[in-house]
Amino acid sequence: PKEIYTLAIETSCDETACAILKNGREVVAGTVYTQIELHRTFGGVVPEVASRNHLEKIAQVIDQCLEKADMALQEVDHIAVTYGPGLVGALLVGLSTAKALAFALEKPLIPVHHIEGHIAANYIAHPALEPPFISLVVSGGHTHLVEVTDYTTFNVIGQTRDDAAGEAFDKVARTLGLGYPGGPEIDRVAREGNAQAIDFPRAMLESGSLDFSFSGLKSAVLNYLNSCRMKGEAINVPDVAASFQAAVTEILTIKAMEALKETGHKQLVLAGGVAANSDLRQRLSAALQKKGYAFYYPPLNLCTDNAEMIGCAGYYNAMAGVRGDMYINAVPNLKI
Ligand code: KG4
Ligand code: ZN
Repeated sequence: PKEIYTLAIETSCDETACAILKNGREVVAGTVYTQIELHRTFGGVVPEVASRNHLEKIAQVIDQCLEKADMALQEVDHIAVTYGPGLVGALLVGLSTAKALAFALEKPLIPVHHIEGHIAANYIAHPALEPPFISLVVSGGHTHLVEVTDYTTFNVIGQTRDDAAGEAFDKVARTLGLGYPGGPEIDRVAREGNAQAIDFPRAMLESGSLDFSFSGLKSAVLNYLNSCRMKGEAINVPDVAASFQAAVTEILTIKAMEALKETGHKQLVLAGGVAANSDLRQRLSAALQKKGYAFYYPPLNLCTDNAEMIGCAGYYNAMAGVRGDMYINAVPNLKI
């Protein structure tokens, strides 16, 4: 049987990425240009700056990827691209590029949901992994518990009602005077701190729902810092970071375990930028091991935004007959 090559493009936020995959799960080559340095001065992603830089870099990123793969564009079987959710201007750069390539090459255009891409990162990292499973998707923009029944069927069973987990990490890091992006900084600083030092609230634990809420926790950290300042007490940054992180990872772990119990699935698949968090991995690993459930998470480079994951999800979409036409638009708030 003929090999299938997927060329994938991802530009939903602040990473300009391209990858080529063979038969869905095997990475032939991947390139990523990260704009983190550009946005660092602003303490967060500036949408206008992001789209302009995607536009400047996209052609070069694709060329480099083809070069690494030692392939010509004509050898690619289809073009997969993220069309949402994300920043509309950023998404449009990748989507327009993918449309142009698909049109010129007369190859199918395969639209991919960014979150489904994050989940698919695990198929690349774990060749034997197959649905069904529960996925906990935690990123800068999303906190979802998703029941994945086959490669292209997703059922959201819980989500955040306000801030995403990664967003909470980023905001708390900023108030603690830590760098951007905040997640890795808190993860690092928390190692020196005492997670029991401050008892921050764990929201929506009693509600019987699988939804999350992190805005109350974020406010609690702010209130704590303000009261320390008012009382003239010194702030122990590692203790605050560790206590905040413990509150987030404990909620995520409890809800993920509830989701497995409710659905009867026996595998948990962690995905998204916050999947890089060491405390979250440890906590989930311990809880799942106790129950004898399997635990999968991607290596660091496949946790944060990348095009490999979009290529993998795109391959399965293509196999299921999903096609995009030339009128498909970017959808900033695309639902699963
Ligand atoms: O998946 P991603 O690259 O972008 C989105 O689709 O949102 O996730 C980025 C998020 C940021 O909020 C970042 O702070 C967080 O992932 N993150 C972490 C860690 N590494 C990245 N959060 C906690 N601990 C980490 N080690
Ligand atoms: Zn992402």
